[in-house]
Amino acid sequence: MIVLGIESSCDETGVALYNTAPWESGQPASLGILGQGLHSQVAMHRDYGGVVPELASRDHIRRVLPLLDQSLTEASLKLGDIDAVAYTQGPGLAGALLVGSAFAKSLAQGLKIPTIGVHHLEGHLLSPLLGPSAPQFPFVALLVSGGHTQLMLVKDIGQYELLGETVDDAAGEAFDKTAKLLGLDYPGGAALSALAEKGQTGRFDLPRPMLHSGDFDFSFSGLKTAVLNQVKQFEAKHITNADEVAQFHADLARGFVEALVAVLLRKSEKAIEQTGCQDLVLAGGVAANKQLRNALNASALKHGFSVHYPPIALCTDNGVMIAFAGALRMLQENNAATQSGSFDVKPR
Ligand code: KG4
Ligand code: ZN
Repeated sequence: MIVLGIESSCDETGVALYNTAPWESGQPASLGILGQGLHSQVAMHRDYGGVVPELASRDHIRRVLPLLDQSLTEASLKLGDIDAVAYTQGPGLAGALLVGSAFAKSLAQGLKIPTIGVHHLEGHLLSPLLGPSAPQFPFVALLVSGGHTQLMLVKDIGQYELLGETVDDAAGEAFDKTAKLLGLDYPGGAALSALAEKGQTGRFDLPRPMLHSGDFDFSFSGLKTAVLNQVKQFEAKHITNADEVAQFHADLARGFVEALVAVLLRKSEKAIEQTGCQDLVLAGGVAANKQLRNALNASALKHGFSVHYPPIALCTDNGVMIAFAGALRMLQENNAATQSGSFDVKPR
């Protein structure tokens, strides 16, 4: 079965073609990726300091067809070879989601093939199965994106138990907001992480919110506020020496990353401990973060569990994860596929 995947929940237009044959015959899942196209709108939104929903929707419309052509060419396939269309149903920006949904359903109507709506986070959650070392079910998943921070117990495809989640900002959101406070461009997660590498540990001992809350929930808005307070105190000193300012930013970035990683690490360790799982999966945009990866790898070595990541290019939003999750869902529950019809995006 060849599944077309469409991702348009936020500021990336992703299109991909996935062949289920390798997966069905027990070969590495990544062999099923036949073609893909991805366009990031980051440069377009940067001037506004965040995603502008109307601009995002318009750009998805502009990009989706050329990206489909690109994917078909890479896969050496024709439209008629596609057996089903998977699209991101939510969560995300309503207008952006509608572009993907309308496109998927119109195409499926024309081709007389089924569509399947995919939960964006399920796409992230299953993407480590496309990596070089696939996790075994059941596993614990730490989902850390710009919109979500969740710990899940993944019993099987489609069987997910939410262990805990953020009560306010998502980890990626905390990265982006803190990056902005330190003068970095949107989305600043990766740049903040690089800046932290240059900083000294220990200068700023920032709060580690809910570290000992006894549950699997997170809170990051206080951490961001702690950074803001430090910035205000520093600005009040009117220091103009460029080296000193740069060092301050790097040290504060370091303090932020260390605090955030400490909380994500401890809660993930606890989830592994409590569920008895052997495998931990890290997914979502923040899964690209080096410091978090290093901390989880060191812990896994110490405590005897293994950590699995999506290939780095599949950490942030993309069409492959939607095609893949849709394909697995269709294989698992044949009747999960819905015929083209109503508009049913789920922004929340
Ligand atoms: O999963 P994603 O592409 O979109 C959402 O579904 O939200 O995640 C984007 C988020 C952004 O907040 C971005 O700053 C963050 O992932 N991010 C990172 C890194 N790369 C991307 N955060 C920390 N370190 C990184 N290397
Ligand atoms: Zn995402």
